[in-house]
Amino acid sequence: MHEPVLGLYEAIERRRDVRAEFSGAPMDDAVLERVLGAAHAAPSVGLSQPWDFVLVDDPRIRRSFHEHVVGERRVFADSLDGDRAERFAEIKVEGILDSTLSVVVTYDPSRGAPSVLGRHAIADAGLYSVCLAIENLWLAATAEGLGVGWVSFYREPFLSELVGLPEGVRPVAWLCLGPVTHLESVPDLERHGWRRRLPLASVLHRNRW
Ligand SMILES: Cc1cc2nc3c(=O)[nH]c(=O)nc-3n(C[C@H](O)[C@H](O)[C@H](O)COP(=O)(O)O)c2cc1C
Repeated sequence: MHEPVLGLYEAIERRRDVRAEFSGAPMDDAVLERVLGAAHAAPSVGLSQPWDFVLVDDPRIRRSFHEHVVGERRVFADSLDGDRAERFAEIKVEGILDSTLSVVVTYDPSRGAPSVLGRHAIADAGLYSVCLAIENLWLAATAEGLGVGWVSFYREPFLSELVGLPEGVRPVAWLCLGPVTHLESVPDLERHGWRRRLPLASVLHRNRW
């Protein structure tokens, strides 16, 4: 059996949002199952496990989503001017057609309802749980030597319709997943001068903000 090669801190350090580095090579079923298993092992409010994973390999669905994303990229680009517009023009925001597999991760607020333990005061706790599943998937994929790219340039109703989500289930992420040629050591947005990572000290507070 192939063993994951990276330790936890190494995977956290090496994880990148991947857009341009997908090789499109096939992915081992056992590896995919481990990565999805890691996502499904995430903590969740009231043990609701409100996520589902829609695996998309149908090229027609992927092409249709890609066209939609290209349109939404244009919408954002049109809101920029000057330096921002120039820099954004250089930045790739998705690898939808290049990655081996797409995974739509969804949130079902009705799972475990009506008495979701811990969600009565904070409705968003359900969404937080889905994001933790996504981060688990992202880190496990990195440990397996795979890349993940989160695409959020879409309108929820479009994606819901495209992959047939039941009423009330929200799409949270379209993830591009698969083998990569390499992982960059610096985030793309930093490499393109869009924004730099903040030092930990700048976001740390003691007792009160
Ligand atoms: C909620 C969320 C949505 C994101 N949406 C996109 C996206 O639509 N396109 C993209 O290229 N990157 C997207 N990203 C990736 C971020 O740009 C990336 O995480 C950030 O620039 C830091 O880079 P790193 O993940 O390589 O460390 C998203 C990340 C998150 C957490």
